[in-house]
Amino acid sequence: MKILAIESSCDDTGISIIVDGLVKSNIVTNQEVHEQYGGVIPELASRQHHINLIPTIESSLNEAKIEMKDLDAIAYTKGPGLLGCLMVGVTFARSLAMSLNIPTIAVNHMHGHIMAHFIEGDKPEFPFLCLTVSGGHTQIVMVNDVDDMHILGETIDDAAGEAFDKVGKMLNLPYPAGPYIDKYAKLGKPIYNFSKARIEGLNFSFSGFKTSVLYFLQNQMKKDQNFIQDNLHDICSSAQHTIVDTLIAKMEMAINSHEIKGIALAGGVSANSLLRSKFEELGLSHQLPVFIPSFEYCTDNAAMIAITAHYKYKKGLFAPLNDMPEPRMKF
Ligand code: KG4
Ligand code: ZN
Repeated sequence: MKILAIESSCDDTGISIIVDGLVKSNIVTNQEVHEQYGGVIPELASRQHHINLIPTIESSLNEAKIEMKDLDAIAYTKGPGLLGCLMVGVTFARSLAMSLNIPTIAVNHMHGHIMAHFIEGDKPEFPFLCLTVSGGHTQIVMVNDVDDMHILGETIDDAAGEAFDKVGKMLNLPYPAGPYIDKYAKLGKPIYNFSKARIEGLNFSFSGFKTSVLYFLQNQMKKDQNFIQDNLHDICSSAQHTIVDTLIAKMEMAINSHEIKGIALAGGVSANSLLRSKFEELGLSHQLPVFIPSFEYCTDNAAMIAITAHYKYKKGLFAPLNDMPEPRMKF
């Protein structure tokens, strides 16, 4: 079964080809155009997808040594994501499938992040808990089966990745700032206290944290203009600790109240070195196996869309040819 998948929900154009569930190619064409703006500009992202799609598909077919006519289905991200970006991917996928006379498979991007655990290596046993942390989402998900998962808790305002990126903006770091904060945090100590939200249950909130970092920096800068550049490593380390502690505390709560066989981490923020090590420790302390996908399958990629489509294909879950993108697609 040969599936080509298109992921275009945000600012990266991802194409992947999988054959019988094995990844034959997984290419992500990054969009550098947004760096100068400190955030993704939706209209520029859609246009860039338009430019990137065909060359990325050609490279993917070449790498997989597969001809277009041999494909059995085209998969795409239906949502959630930026409307214009999704629209480019969905219409392209539908047209391509129609011209090849093969079915399409619509995939929820957030299911894709979780299904990334089924791409390679040891696969988690059901049921397991997945902490999905990306630029747009922060969710604790109960995963009972490949097509039976539900959200136990999620952010009520900013996502964890967004919290990293917004703090990075205050520190004049390039976008996305998560990797820079991670890098500088290694050189500093968590000596500053930023506020942690006290939200009941398994939901998250990062807006109070963000404001506390902002007020702290404004106060310090009044006293010392060079405060940020002189203390960058300690500020990064402190901010990172606060975000990671918040995530781990909620996961701990979720583990204590559910019968599970493992814990998994997904989404771009799972690249964070402190989160990875604290997550490993969490699993160890509860004697639960821990699953963290390799880096290329953590950040946005099309292989996770392709593997989800692989399981949907087996169940005959195809999309109608008039399917439309859903920017706020429900889980
Ligand atoms: O899942 P992803 O690739 O895209 C979305 O669907 O959002 O996640 C991107 C997010 C960005 O906010 C980025 O700053 C964050 O992941 N990120 C990190 C690290 N690497 C990427 N955050 C903290 N530490 C990192 N090492
Ligand atoms: Zn994502």
